[in-house]
Amino acid sequence: MAYDTILVEQKGAVALITLNRPKALNALNRQLITELLSVYDALIAGGTTRSAVLTGAGDKAFAAGADITEMNGQGPADMAAFSALGHRMGARIETAPFPTIAAVNGFALGGGCELALSADFIHAAEEAKFGQPEVNLGLIPGFGGCTRLVRRVGVAWARELVETGDPISAAEALRIGLCNRVVPRAQLLEGALKTAQRIADRGPCAVRAARDVLLQTQDLDLVRANAFEMTAFGLVSASADSQEGMTAFVEKRPAKFQGK
Ligand code: CAA
Repeated sequence: MAYDTILVEQKGAVALITLNRPKALNALNRQLITELLSVYDALIAGGTTRSAVLTGAGDKAFAAGADITEMNGQGPADMAAFSALGHRMGARIETAPFPTIAAVNGFALGGGCELALSADFIHAAEEAKFGQPEVNLGLIPGFGGCTRLVRRVGVAWARELVETGDPISAAEALRIGLCNRVVPRAQLLEGALKTAQRIADRGPCAVRAARDVLLQTQDLDLVRANAFEMTAFGLVSASADSQEGMTAFVEKRPAKFQGK
């Protein structure tokens, strides 16, 4: 399927998804968000994608936020609906049956930072800049910037980023745990794709179950969280893949996972 604002390339079991509005620094308008939801729906329905890399077209931006031109002049009902659309996008990425790595190639501001936070983890180019500048516009983050950011970097940094609106460098983002690694831009995509491929080579049922546990337990107390993990551990051991993985280890051969 062709999209106006997104490029999708299937590289075996890895999907490379590129936000493609470089002239507007890949700003997230309704069309782009709706198309991104469709991309994920199609990849999920296809059933063969085991991991994805999400990046931005051009060398300046991952995404410079929600589209300010489109938001300008809208009333509260439309703005609330836009926020709901952005949250649907974040939830779709976060709860998809496969992980997404955000390869942040430049500005990840406002909705762009929030989109990256919906991914499982973030790799960044040295030139990347992260921030939640909404307060400069008299707004607040609307796509999960307050909620996911605090869970990723803790309340102190979330407060500073959201309340000042100041951007931080990739090096600072690395230091506070917002991104996992920072690499020269020329190596960003190749590295993220390699990591995505390594995930795709693992047992798909196991990767999916592990993501579920990591996501669903993050706000549970330890006793409930551990109970959730124990149940998921038992369930995933019923998969053919887990039998194959353990048998392959014992037989000293590579496992052949089928996602079953
Ligand atoms: N929305 C719409 N258009 C945007 C945009 C955005 N968020 N960010 C950049 N653009 C457009 C610019 O208007 C410009 O378009 P024209 O060439 O037609 O004038 C083009 O992209 C290039 O941008 P600049 O000329 O500004 O590039 P720069 O290198 O001088 O500055 C920048 C880069 C610092 C990222 C600057 O563009 C900027 O501050 N952008 C806005 C960042 C922002 O405030 N993001 C938060 C949006 S609100 C939000 O996201 C709410 C939410 O949580 C849901």
